[in-house]
Amino acid sequence: MLTIYTFMAQFYFQLIFVLLFRPLSARPSLEARQNLVTFGGRSYDCKCYPGDRCWPSVSKWKALNNTVGGLLKEVVPDSAVCYNTFEGRPTYNAPACAEVTANFPGEQWTTDRDVSNLWIFWTNNTCLPTTNPSDACTLGYYPEYVILAKRKEHIKAGIDFARENNIRLVIRNTGHDFMGRSTGFGSLAINTHNFKDVRFIKKYTGPGDWTGGAVKVGAGIQGRELLRQAFDQSPKVAIVTGECPTVGFAGGYIQGGGHGPLATLHGMAADQALSFEVITADGAYRTANPRENPDLFWALKGGGPSTFAAIVSVLVKTFPEIPSAGVIFRINSTHTNDTEIFWKGFRIFHNLSNRYVDNGMFVYYELFPGLLNVQPFVGPNMNAAKIKQVLKPLSDQLASENIPHDWVVKEFPTFFELYIDLFADEGAGANMLTGGRLFTKTDIRKNANGIVDAMIQSLAASGGGFVGHIVGPGYGAPTVDNAIHPRWRDGSSFSISILNMPLRATWDEKKAAEELLTDQVDGPLRAASPNGAAYVNEGNLEEPNWQQTYWGSNYPKLFDLKKKWDPKGVFYARTTPGTEQWEVIDYGTRLCKRL
Ligand SMILES: Cc1cc2nc3c(=O)[nH]c(=O)nc-3n(C[C@H](O)[C@H](O)[C@H](O)COP(=O)(O)OP(=O)(O)OC[C@H]3O[C@@H](n4cnc5c(N)ncnc54)[C@H](O)[C@@H]3O)c2cc1C
Ligand SMILES: *[C@@H]1O[C@H](CO)[C@@H](O)[C@H](O)[C@H]1NC(C)=O
Ligand SMILES: *[C@@H]1O[C@H](CO)[C@@H](O)[C@H](O)[C@H]1NC(C)=O
Ligand SMILES: *[C@@H]1O[C@H](CO)[C@@H](O)[C@H](O)[C@H]1NC(C)=O
Ligand SMILES: *[C@@H]1O[C@H](CO)[C@@H](O)[C@H](O)[C@H]1NC(C)=O
Ligand SMILES: *[C@@H]1O[C@H](CO)[C@@H](O)[C@H](O)[C@H]1NC(C)=O
Repeated sequence: MLTIYTFMAQFYFQLIFVLLFRPLSARPSLEARQNLVTFGGRSYDCKCYPGDRCWPSVSKWKALNNTVGGLLKEVVPDSAVCYNTFEGRPTYNAPACAEVTANFPGEQWTTDRDVSNLWIFWTNNTCLPTTNPSDACTLGYYPEYVILAKRKEHIKAGIDFARENNIRLVIRNTGHDFMGRSTGFGSLAINTHNFKDVRFIKKYTGPGDWTGGAVKVGAGIQGRELLRQAFDQSPKVAIVTGECPTVGFAGGYIQGGGHGPLATLHGMAADQALSFEVITADGAYRTANPRENPDLFWALKGGGPSTFAAIVSVLVKTFPEIPSAGVIFRINSTHTNDTEIFWKGFRIFHNLSNRYVDNGMFVYYELFPGLLNVQPFVGPNMNAAKIKQVLKPLSDQLASENIPHDWVVKEFPTFFELYIDLFADEGAGANMLTGGRLFTKTDIRKNANGIVDAMIQSLAASGGGFVGHIVGPGYGAPTVDNAIHPRWRDGSSFSISILNMPLRATWDEKKAAEELLTDQVDGPLRAASPNGAAYVNEGNLEEPNWQQTYWGSNYPKLFDLKKKWDPKGVFYARTTPGTEQWEVIDYGTRLCKRL
């Protein structure tokens, strides 16, 4: 027996020796590890795709499936049940199709799916609900496979597999991303929706200076779900989340910055982070906080989604609940059809942005030609009398200019009760492109009129609308050293521009729309706000000079940190630090590095 073991030990020793010290010529050449593609006359080194020689074999996928306990799924679009076949297999199922069709515009339903996106544009408008089952259902820009991760080991397995096999990795939390960053053609997706652990801490004890309450939030938690649990605590607490009930918290939202109804009062979501539990591109579990990996901690706080690591959970500050007041304010065709009167009303409202944020308020509104729907003004720590007093210049000017409008004032014992009453679920399934601009207090002070002129010009070009947020993160809050654009500290009014797309746009029509958005829609906004910025979570993928516009003076450091933490580009999201050489070529399909 002993000799056999000795023999085996010697054998393995020799094997290891051979593997470690193979002569140079026996190593695979650099060339062989590349996946070279020429497109449009340029050379690229691409991720591996189905049909490529380097695409993992069936047995490799099987092994991955074993590693993740059978949670690997081949992606089949939700609406395949409305079509006779998908990839040659029969899929039609009338009751299932009726269910998908009914739920398709629902936000919560969509976020609960394996890979679906809120904005169908990013799936290549593929396989939509139909009443014609003989139409074709294809995968479009959806991933090939998805891991429905339940434990951090499953996320790690996905990262390791993508890195080792050179395939595109997509992390999909809620599918909210306006800019399509939670899907990708031919990719392996990791779905983090099941990471619902939440743990409240009454008194945080470091590292760092914070000594108030905190909460550890799992990667899959959504905004309203988190606020509900915060409200159930004793004493009740409040947290900075997005205005939208179903947007994720610990995914793209916080990594991009994260504004919301309490952001003027307490700062951005990225200002609240105390510690992250993450998995980095090398597959290592790491903690990022002021003591451990402080540079990674800094970058995760606003440096961009899916860029530096996969987040498993984040620990953030909580605040005491406070009484709050709200106002709903509308001007639409019920009140006037006179364009001049309408815009005068909007101008009065928007000109006062700095006043709202200087009083700790957040305002959410929708603007279309002839329709202004402000729901709501949020007045934290205010009652009805106080919010009326803060808004008195608005009501006085509307009265003196005879602007017809509607106005409802409400007060609530807590912020959460205001939130549930005044913020509603939004829709899914729209087909649009977004852009936008952050107007700072400086810009509003210097050029309030010019900004509104630019918005009017921009609406005329888009034929669409604006989703407006009046938010001044940092009011009353200590300024946190993190990666968000420093201009957020002077923030006042942030607008998302919307360009609706036709369902069957050709590639050329899509390119023309991007150009229109960038030049005619966002161009005037940019020109009117030389001290402004843009928001990486709610912006324009074609933003010129995006590094500067999304991150300002923080960009060079972010660029270096991307090289340090993800040198191979395991994580990818467009217009995020260090992606300059990467490009999605071949009509929105292959992700490649330019050579
Ligand atoms: C209707 C609507 C309302 C919104 N309201 C607000 C708002 O009030 N305030 C605000 O700031 N933003 C808001 N947003 C924008 C929002 O911040 C972004 O869409 C954000 O990307 C959503 O993150 P998610 O994780 O929920 O979405 P996903 O689309 O699933 O992911 C977005 C990005 O984050 C990456 N990601 C997700 N999870 C992880 C993870 N665990 N680790 C690493 N990377 C990850 C994804 O790969 C992707 O790149 C809103 C968006 C919509 C559509
Ligand atoms: C992974 O394993 C599960 C359980 O055996 C199975 O249902 C599923 O189809 C497998 N996934 C793939 C992609 O083969
Ligand atoms: C995307 O849609 C266009 C137009 O329908 C189609 O020509 C193209 O093949 C699609 N691409 C993919 C990858 O599905
Ligand atoms: C505006 O026009 C619509 C449609 O013609 C009409 O129903 C509405 O009453 C008009 N509003 C006012 C204030 O006149
Ligand atoms: C216009 O405002 C009124 C309230 O004054 C509201 O009831 C109505 O729904 C609004 N119309 C639109 C189209 O938003
Ligand atoms: C808006 O602000 C500008 C200053 O930029 C001022 O000239 C203008 O009169 C204001 N308009 C209204 C309607 O308040």
